[in-house]
Amino acid sequence: MDRINGLPALGFGTFGRKGEDGIETMRLALETGYRHLDTAQMYENEEEVGEALRRSGLLRGEVWLTTKINMPNFAPGKLVPSLEESLEKLGVDEVDLTLIHWPSPNDEYELETYMTQIAEAKEKGLTRHIGVSNFTIALIDQSIGLLGEGALATNQVELHPYLQNRKLAEHCKSKDIAVTCYQPLAKGTVSDDPKLVEIADKHGATAPQVALAWELAQGFVTIPTTSNADRVAENFGALNVTLDDDDMAAIGELDRGQRRIDPDTAPDWD
Ligand SMILES: NC(=O)c1ccc[n+]([C@@H]2O[C@H](COP(=O)([O-])OP(=O)(O)OC[C@H]3O[C@@H](n4cnc5c(N)ncnc54)[C@H](OP(=O)(O)O)[C@@H]3O)[C@@H](O)[C@H]2O)c1
Repeated sequence: MDRINGLPALGFGTFGRKGEDGIETMRLALETGYRHLDTAQMYENEEEVGEALRRSGLLRGEVWLTTKINMPNFAPGKLVPSLEESLEKLGVDEVDLTLIHWPSPNDEYELETYMTQIAEAKEKGLTRHIGVSNFTIALIDQSIGLLGEGALATNQVELHPYLQNRKLAEHCKSKDIAVTCYQPLAKGTVSDDPKLVEIADKHGATAPQVALAWELAQGFVTIPTTSNADRVAENFGALNVTLDDDDMAAIGELDRGQRRIDPDTAPDWD
């Protein structure tokens, strides 16, 4: 599988994968071939992710683990201990990637306060790479100003055929920051899209596979999730779908700026 800035291009999202069912779904994802699990302190499932990894029988080095720092842990002196607690829950010595989950709501903490702490976590060997999530162009540039070019592996943002986020994606690419698409299936709603279904029929694929293949074809990382065993395999099958220029252009026209995750405390989106 392709890697982008080290991240396996197709990962398995873990939001909502909790308890015994969650562990088994994530273990199945690893058995199916996913080698990248995306969790967060906020998802309260880091123990389950660690257990799925152990049950898979895979070596630690074979699976890319991402976690994200919850916003209350941006307070001075809290970020590094919070990540140590995440490692304890995951049962690993370090994660591959740690993200700032959201810019600090209402600017409660200054960017410098949490970006310097996440850099410190990397220096201490708690995480191999660092990155951000839900960052705008302005926040990316400010972060580069603080930590330097090349410091951020990825910006994880909402991106799917209905919210193509082109300006931000271009900017990230120009700074060598991988774009990771969250909610890449627009929460499953892509499955009924007539245009995606039409393209899928042409390739003997499904509409969700086409959406994921469209993200992968642009050099993005994408992290769909599902609670359904058949869909674990279906979504992984996106790796076998190759879209042509006409398909890419037709999907490009589906953009309607439809943002699904937009809390009151979100930054000023690009
Ligand atoms: N950084 C952030 O702020 C942030 C925010 C949101 C999400 N994320 C990450 O991104 C991951 C994915 O996002 P998401 O879970 O919100 O949305 P998503 O992956 O776009 O959609 C998941 C939904 O789509 C359905 N689904 C999955 N595969 C399907 C298929 N082949 N056909 C039809 N329906 C399908 C699932 O239902 P079933 O379970 O019934 O299959 C589920 O309801 C999360 O797990 C999390 O790791 C990050």
